[in-house]
Amino acid sequence: MLTKLDEIQAAALQTLHSVSDEDALQAWRVTHTGRSSALMQVFSNLGQLGKEQRPLVGQKANQVKLALEAAFAKHSQVIKEAALSHSLEQQHLDVSLPGRPARRGRLHPATQTLRRILGILSEMGFQVFTSGEVETDEYNFQYLNFPPDHPAREMQDSFYLEAGERGDNPLLMRTHTSPGQIRAMRLAAATDPTNPPPIRIALPGMCFRYEQITPRSEAQFNQVEGLAVGRNITFSDLKGTLNDFARRMFGQDTRTRFRAQHFPFTEPSAEMDVECFVCAGKGCQVCKQAGWLEILGSGMVHPTVLQNGGYDPTKYTGFAFGMGSERQAMLRYKIEDIRYFWGNDVRFLEQF
Ligand code: DAH
Repeated sequence: MLTKLDEIQAAALQTLHSVSDEDALQAWRVTHTGRSSALMQVFSNLGQLGKEQRPLVGQKANQVKLALEAAFAKHSQVIKEAALSHSLEQQHLDVSLPGRPARRGRLHPATQTLRRILGILSEMGFQVFTSGEVETDEYNFQYLNFPPDHPAREMQDSFYLEAGERGDNPLLMRTHTSPGQIRAMRLAAATDPTNPPPIRIALPGMCFRYEQITPRSEAQFNQVEGLAVGRNITFSDLKGTLNDFARRMFGQDTRTRFRAQHFPFTEPSAEMDVECFVCAGKGCQVCKQAGWLEILGSGMVHPTVLQNGGYDPTKYTGFAFGMGSERQAMLRYKIEDIRYFWGNDVRFLEQF
């Protein structure tokens, strides 16, 4: 039995020499030290041996087992090192090759346009004010004088965040930047409730509507809101400011026109068009043959809205306006499909 163990060991070590990769090594382990190996047979048959032989054979078998395990570990190391030096030889590394050029990032066209609009407005004395994208029904609609049955309040038009838990004041994603008007007025009025300070702010931010997404409408878009509140602010201040804005934004010769419109939070209200800068008013595809492009909504702040903001409408007046900034980018760069803005296609983004 002892000689047999010597033979088992010799044979195993012999074959180990010719093992040259990881797979073969694992197979060797199974064959020579696995459950059905000759060595393990010796262990399982120990019980049949006589009392004197048993400890001798047992001890010897253990030595063989340890020897094979040690040989396995050593050979495993050899194979790993061989594999490493093989791969180093195969994969030459040319450290003198020029590196790959890093791609330079840039501002998203929507951000560029937003910044351009804010740049112009701040030159004109408007301070940037921001408010949150999640609003309450009160701020988004009620304080802005929306009647309870106004179509914009339908579930189909706004993203509501919870159903019914807050009664008639549910949370929603703001559908426009106008609720920031109320927040700005209330903040300012809180500093001196009897004699609130004048306000002149530009309010940028993302708005959300439950829209069918088409080339002309997206479910998310940026707006910039303007608000000026003070004593003796008139409709001619509104017109002068917006005309000046249009010239700074689209060029000194830009012609504008105001059309009567209705918004719940302004009275009177008007939309401003600029003469189409693609066809200079002659009529083309961009302006749909009208010669004019609508760029913003505006009006004198409704007395109820002033009141809700903490400003006494018998003493204060104000004007407000709101514009979609992607829309302005589309006009300026002749982008035909609003879906490009959030489509994350670098081929589009790289052009700006
Ligand atoms: N909030 C309006 C909208 O989303 C835009 C607007 C119109 C804002 C008139 C104003 C305004 O401040 O005076 O369509």
